[in-house]
Amino acid sequence: MRFSALSLAALTLLASSVAATAVRPKCDPKARGPSLQQRQSAAIRDFAHIFLIEQDPKKAFDAYIPGTYIQHNPDALSGREPAIAFLTELWGTPSLKFSNVTAWAGEGYGLIHYRMRAPDADIHNAIMDRLRFEGTCFVEHWDVIQRINGNETNPLAFF
Ligand SMILES: *[C@@H]1O[C@H](CO)[C@@H](O)[C@H](O)[C@H]1NC(C)=O
Ligand SMILES: *[C@@H]1O[C@H](CO)[C@@H](O)[C@H](O)[C@H]1NC(C)=O
Repeated sequence: MRFSALSLAALTLLASSVAATAVRPKCDPKARGPSLQQRQSAAIRDFAHIFLIEQDPKKAFDAYIPGTYIQHNPDALSGREPAIAFLTELWGTPSLKFSNVTAWAGEGYGLIHYRMRAPDADIHNAIMDRLRFEGTCFVEHWDVIQRINGNETNPLAFF
């Protein structure tokens, strides 16, 4: 009896350390030094790849937004968890695809610009996400979303 209670405690400990390993971020909030700009450029490109090409918001957040997430989107609240829940549901929309993806970093911010399209759900937007770095992690977010109708006056509209 005593032995199995101990084993259970050991298993619980093992399970929580496995869970902690699974969400170990790729980013470093304390990153500093002369290569920081280069590391931030690599971070925003990798974030964009996981978020938009692999289409895995949870993996992108676990890697690059491990803690604080200050939100400025008017329809959402701050915090990692509400963002992951919202994005995971939206990313589950059938026929959803991203294209025209660009990503770059400078002066402590990352920016991604892309087309989000789900013909079956009447979603077609041009989006920019601005993310503030702390080290090579992101801690704050602003976005701008433009609806694409397809009848725009400018033949060069959006991209
Ligand atoms: C944007 O992506 C579309 C496919 O969705 C492609 O046909 C088009 O050439 C791309 N435009 C630019 C400017 O890259
Ligand atoms: C394009 O279509 C949208 C939706 O149908 C409409 O609201 C908008 O006024 C149109 N724009 C132009 C430039 O015709």
